[in-house]
Amino acid sequence: MLVDVAFTPDEAGSAPTGIVIDVIRATSTICQALASGYAAVFCAAEVEEARTLRDALGGGVLGGERNAVRIPGFDLGNSPREYLEPAGDTLILSTTNGTRAVVAAASRCERVLIASLLNLAALVEAAREYGEDVLVVCAGVEGRPNLDDTYVAGRIVESLGWKRTDAAEAAARLVPTWGGAEEALRVSRSGRNLLENAPELEPDIPFCARESVLDVVPQLVALRDGAAEIAA
Ligand code: MLT
Repeated sequence: MLVDVAFTPDEAGSAPTGIVIDVIRATSTICQALASGYAAVFCAAEVEEARTLRDALGGGVLGGERNAVRIPGFDLGNSPREYLEPAGDTLILSTTNGTRAVVAAASRCERVLIASLLNLAALVEAAREYGEDVLVVCAGVEGRPNLDDTYVAGRIVESLGWKRTDAAEAAARLVPTWGGAEEALRVSRSGRNLLENAPELEPDIPFCARESVLDVVPQLVALRDGAAEIAA
């Protein structure tokens, strides 16, 4: 089996199993929300799409960020720590990069799994059980590669232990250059954006850096009006 890495969602590539990462913080939030009891998370690329979808669904919790902070009029932001208890059955999430990456992967892979450090072991086990080639899709930051998602991609590549493309090899080789996950997340563009725009959310970094503490494997189940419906 082969594992490949796309450092941004626009990079070419496809595989039967797509694994999407936006560790700071969209995919960490999706994992936490589903582990806490939300039945479904809808990923919407645009703010207006999220609002329209809530109307179409007849309700739901609106969550998400722009410039790291809660979108005006939304119920919750994009801190995974806001999702430790469910505030409803359905979460409709719109974030700057992460929710777009999920929607992009949906068009290129037969199945799409959602990764963070929080669910790393469960995710790797699920990918192994599918037993088909993997494309890890990093959300990046506004179309550019970022170190935090690359770190997680490297951890997935190491953990799978399969044949690697050069991109996958590069991600794995970066992992030992940091003292651990928290350092990698902190020095990354995403980590610095979070600290610059919302310093009060600094505890999100150590929270998202914890490895294999959740047993969920969120997976794309359907596309609805351009939004990706994810369930565990
Ligand atoms: C994103 O989608 O880019 C992230 O969720 C950004 C953030 O967490 O602030």
